[in-house]
Amino acid sequence: MLSIRNRLAALFFLITAFAVGVVLLYVTPQLRSSLREEKLGTLAEVAERYSEPITEAAADDASTRTLERVVGEAADRAGVRVILLDVELDEDGEPTSAALVADSAEDPDLNELRFATGLAAARTGATVTGTEMGAEQRLAEAATALVADGKLVGVAVFASPADDVEAQVALLTRQILVAGAIALTLALVIGVLVARAISQRVRRIERGAEQVAAGDFSARFPTDSPDELGQLARALDDMQRQLAELDSARKRFIATASHELRTPIFSLGGFLELLEEEELDEPTRRVFLRQVRDQVDRLGKLATDLLDLSRLEAGSLELRHEDCDVGLLAEGVTSEFVPALVSHDSRMELRLAGRRLRAVCDPERVAQVLRILIDNALTHTPSGTALVVTAERSDGRVRLTVRDYGPGIDDEALERVFEPFYTSDGTQGSGLGLAIARELTERMEGSLGVESAPGRTAFTLELPA
Ligand SMILES: Nc1ncnc2c1ncn2[C@@H]1O[C@H](COP(=O)(O)OP(=O)(O)OP(=O)(O)O)[C@@H](O)[C@H]1O
Ligand SMILES: [Mg+2]
Repeated sequence: MLSIRNRLAALFFLITAFAVGVVLLYVTPQLRSSLREEKLGTLAEVAERYSEPITEAAADDASTRTLERVVGEAADRAGVRVILLDVELDEDGEPTSAALVADSAEDPDLNELRFATGLAAARTGATVTGTEMGAEQRLAEAATALVADGKLVGVAVFASPADDVEAQVALLTRQILVAGAIALTLALVIGVLVARAISQRVRRIERGAEQVAAGDFSARFPTDSPDELGQLARALDDMQRQLAELDSARKRFIATASHELRTPIFSLGGFLELLEEEELDEPTRRVFLRQVRDQVDRLGKLATDLLDLSRLEAGSLELRHEDCDVGLLAEGVTSEFVPALVSHDSRMELRLAGRRLRAVCDPERVAQVLRILIDNALTHTPSGTALVVTAERSDGRVRLTVRDYGPGIDDEALERVFEPFYTSDGTQGSGLGLAIARELTERMEGSLGVESAPGRTAFTLELPA
């Protein structure tokens, strides 16, 4: 019952009913009174214009016949009924009685008529208008005092039926009612149609939302109209597209992660089978065991990385925000890499611009990011490549840069290095290092960027100071 459709239809109906009601209750009475006024005004004008000959005849004490003729002529010219009254006045000028002298009408209903307007005209000497109920119908009257040489010689009443005003008003009321009934029906029909069209569109959007909620991202929303519903549909369409992208990213992530996990597990299985063979000489066994250890390390790192990344994306990894000395931190991390540098036959230089480089961050996580960057600079460059790590402060931020003089990263790869599982060379990495590094920096309100050209690559970590 309270659906948008019913409410809209009811609203259309009520607004139209209200409009019709206002016309009936407010406009109709106004029309009636202005029609009446107009009628009386016209009668008064007519009375003043055509009473002249009657005044002259009455002033001349003409015979009743003459008066009747003059009154008849005036009635013909004016097109209304004309009555001539003889009014007696007392010493104070107050009218005492009115006697009929002549009447242009054939069937006078004089018993009923009091001619209050006539008496008032005699008292005031002016033209007085009003209505009066006759035997059969209401009369509109304009009475004018006939004055000759300052003396009242009679009163002429110009009268015409007032019922035509009522008839006109009644006709108009009927017409308004008929038009109102038509308008109400139309309003109801149009209201129902418009409301049905709107509610159908809402239903379509609702069905799309239900489909998306059920995990079906192929749902489409009707975005063909520019109105509010169209805008809502467009917003939902955008949301649906993003959900679909997220969903496919999630599926890709799971597929790649399981693939990455399977590779070392398969290789482990293979080595274990080989190790089970009885006549294995000691050096080969040692090589195999070393391979097994490598694969186990790789699995361990992968598991830790995956856990870190999923915690970061879920927002459940708690990071500390504390004031720490980034210079000291960089010194600590670079010293961890001494053995790796030896085996890679490289040199690493640490340049600290100033002693106290303080930033707001989680020291363990900054160290983790730095390890990822230095590890990459060693893993993805040929042996003997030189590395420079710099720490400096500028524009209220502390900047840590890991620069290597390796072959560089090509433009296409440069855009994707921060994607999870992205690797651009044949090394054994799983491609999670930079993805984790970027998530970590963003969680510390910092940023991680890269610049690369053939012969040099620099990753820069910026932290709020
Ligand atoms: N300093 C660098 N020089 C050249 N290429 C680099 C450098 N750092 C990163 N890359 C490229 O970016 C890719 C992504 O790096 P990332 O650290 O995310 O993954 P990975 O090192 O391959 O694997 P993981 O770090 O998870 O073991 C690398 O595979 C490599 O191709
Ligand atoms: Mg890496």
